[in-house]
Formats: sequence, C-alpha cells, structure tokens
Amino acid sequence: MRSARLLPLLVALLAPPVLADEPILPIPRSIPYDHAKAELGKRLFFDPRLSSDGKVACVSCHNPSHGGAEPRAHSLGVYRRAGTINAPTVYNAYFNFRQFWNGRAKDLQEQAGGPIHNPVEMDLSAAEVARRLEQDDDYRARFTAVYGDGPITFDHAADAIAEFEKALTTPNAKFDRWLRGEGKLTTEEAAGYLLFKSLGCVSCHNGINVGGNSYQYLGAVNPVTDVAAGGDLYARTGDEFDRNRYKVPSLRNIELTAPYLHDGSRATLEEALATMAYHNLGFTLSRQETRRLSAFLHTLTGDTPAILGAEQAP
Ligand code: HEC
Ligand code: HEC
Repeated sequence: MRSARLLPLLVALLAPPVLADEPILPIPRSIPYDHAKAELGKRLFFDPRLSSDGKVACVSCHNPSHGGAEPRAHSLGVYRRAGTINAPTVYNAYFNFRQFWNGRAKDLQEQAGGPIHNPVEMDLSAAEVARRLEQDDDYRARFTAVYGDGPITFDHAADAIAEFEKALTTPNAKFDRWLRGEGKLTTEEAAGYLLFKSLGCVSCHNGINVGGNSYQYLGAVNPVTDVAAGGDLYARTGDEFDRNRYKVPSLRNIELTAPYLHDGSRATLEEALATMAYHNLGFTLSRQETRRLSAFLHTLTGDTPAILGAEQAP
C-alpha cells in the first residue's frame, strides 16, 4: 500500500535536492585542524604504552579497518578484561553534541581521559601517562614543538588525541554528493531515504551525523527486553526518566560498524533495523522496506579519513 503512494514523491526525490529542505546535512569536505598536533595525536592513538599492560591502544577498540569501531560486541581491555558496552566509531565523533552512549563527556578532550583511566580499558593514571611519555625522546621533541617547553602533561596528550579525532571525518559519501547535487541515488536508495523520512527514523537520526545530537529511548514504542542494561543516561543521572535513554548513534558508515546497539547485541544491520522499526516506531518492516532502508544507509559511507593514509583503507 505504502509503495503506491511513494511514486510521486519518488519522482521528486530523484531530482536534485534543495539542501536547506533536507533534515540531513553533508559533512564538510574538509575541517581545518592543526596538523602537527593531529600527527602527535595519531601516534598516541596507536600507542599501547598508554595502557597498564602495554598492550591496549585506542586503536584496539576503534579500528580503522572496522569503520573506527570494533567487531566484538564488547570491548576487551588490559589483561583481556571485558567491558559490557560496544565501542561506537570515532569517525565523525567530532560532530556529536556529547561523547559516549550517555553523553558523560562534553567533548573529545574530556572523552580521551575516560578510556585511559578506566580499569577495564587502559587503566593508567594521568601522572603515569605523562611519566611514560617524558621518557621517550621522540615524544619529548614532538610535545615541545607543539606545546612549547615545560613538562609533558596528560591534558596536552588528551588535546593532541582530540585534534587527531577532529581529522577523522568521512566526507563525500554518495548521499552527501547527492545532497550537494553532484551525483544521483539509485531508485532503491532514493526509496530508502524516503522511507527513512516517512517512517520517522529521521525524527531521531538527523543533522550532519544522522544522529549524535539528542538523547532518545531505546524502546520508545515497545520496550526492548533482550538487551543488556547499562551505559544509559540513567547510569549518569540516577533519574528513572532516563532509563534506556541513549545518545542517538550516528548512522554514518553504518555498514562498516557491526555489531549494533549499545551492547552489540544486533549482529547485522537488518537486525538493527527490525529492532528500531518495531521498538522505536511500532511496526514490522517488510522485506522490501528493509532492503530499501539498507540501500539508503549504505550511501552514508564516506571517504576514509586522509590522515590515516592509504594503507588504512577499510
Ligand atoms: C578497551 C576498548 C576501548 C579502548 C582501549 C578505547 N575505547 Fe573508546 N570507547 C570504547 C567503548 C566501549 C566506548 C563506549 C563507552 C560508553 O559509551 O559508555 C567508547 C567510546 C569512545 C568515544 C565516544 C564516541 C561517541 O560517539 O560517543 C570516543 C570519541 C572514543 N571512545 C575514543 C577513544 C580514544 C581517544 C581512546 C584512547 C585514548 C579510546 N577510545 C580507547 C572502547 C574503547
Ligand atoms: C525514538 C528515536 C529513534 C527512532 C524513531 C529511530 N531510532 Fe535508531 N536509534 C535510536 C537510539 C536511541 C539508538 C541507540 C539504541 C541503543 O544502542 O541502545 C538507535 C540505534 C540505531 C541503529 C544502530 C546504530 C549503532 O551504531 O549501533 C541503527 C542502524 C538505527 N538506529 C537505525 C534506525 C532506523 C533505520 C530507524 C527507522 C526505521 C530508526 N533508527 C528509528 C533512536 C531512534
């Protein structure tokens, strides 16, 4: 039934869009950042010496060959200690209004301290991070070049990592090129985008990150019982109203970042879509609708961040 009504809209959709009328914005082609700082941050991001057992780096859980996220449902930290939450991607995190599933860090600088000090992730004190970096001649030279004379501080390290993450944007997705009038979507992709808007996905997943700009319920319409509790806004505020409320995740590069949801309990994109449609909107998707939505979501994959170099392409 729905598809009969789709046709006139579909025709309109295949025409070049008027950017201001769309609820999703393209990622800017480039974002200015401090290159020396970001290169230093990149080194730190890949360096396992920032963990107590010397084996875990940021990249262990935020893998460039997995869209900046991790293939495991739950992270494994130092000494293979298991977490309970699935690592979201670091790509485009710069555009999120807060960091973490429950937004407990206000920005990337503040976020960087989280995993380094977390006992099940990297498990290292700020003082020990600074001490280890001070012992390395190469780091000392690089920190001096960027931050001037004086001892290396943890805040400088967090600042450099945040600058590197600023460079982890993925512009020029097929969808963004369509938004800018530079390319076409296939009929299937365009139908998927239309569904995304008409079914109401877009009420929570919108803006530059197709998410990342509000807190919403998992189970807004039908409660979800088969996910691990935790990591929600309630864990931060203790307010009952915030139970099962999460920062809406970005859908950028979503085809690369399985498994899905805060507990990694949905192995495939199709499963994630079925959960969203039923629990957050109240209906069951047909196979055709799933296929179309999925085709649209695949157009959100952008360029690999240039700072990672060609060898890191997904
Ligand atoms: C052991 C695995 C692990 C390591 C190591 C790790 N992370 Fe994470 N990261 C996670 C998990 C899990 C979350 C989500 C936690 C939550 O929201 O409660 C996360 C969240 C994030 C986020 C928030 C993204 C968003 O959309 O909210 C950023 C940014 C991030 N990590 C960057 C880093 C940086 C930088 C480092 C190194 C200093 C790092 N991570 C090390 C597992 C890890
Ligand atoms: C009421 C707000 C809301 C609506 C409507 C909604 N979502 Fe979500 N979406 C969320 C929240 C919140 C999460 C994170 C839930 C969690 O992880 O526990 C999420 C997670 C997802 C994920 C998994 C992302 C990841 O990285 O794990 C996908 C994919 C997704 N939504 C797609 C959709 C699609 C497609 C629709 C429409 C059929 C939709 N969503 C409708 C709020 C919403």
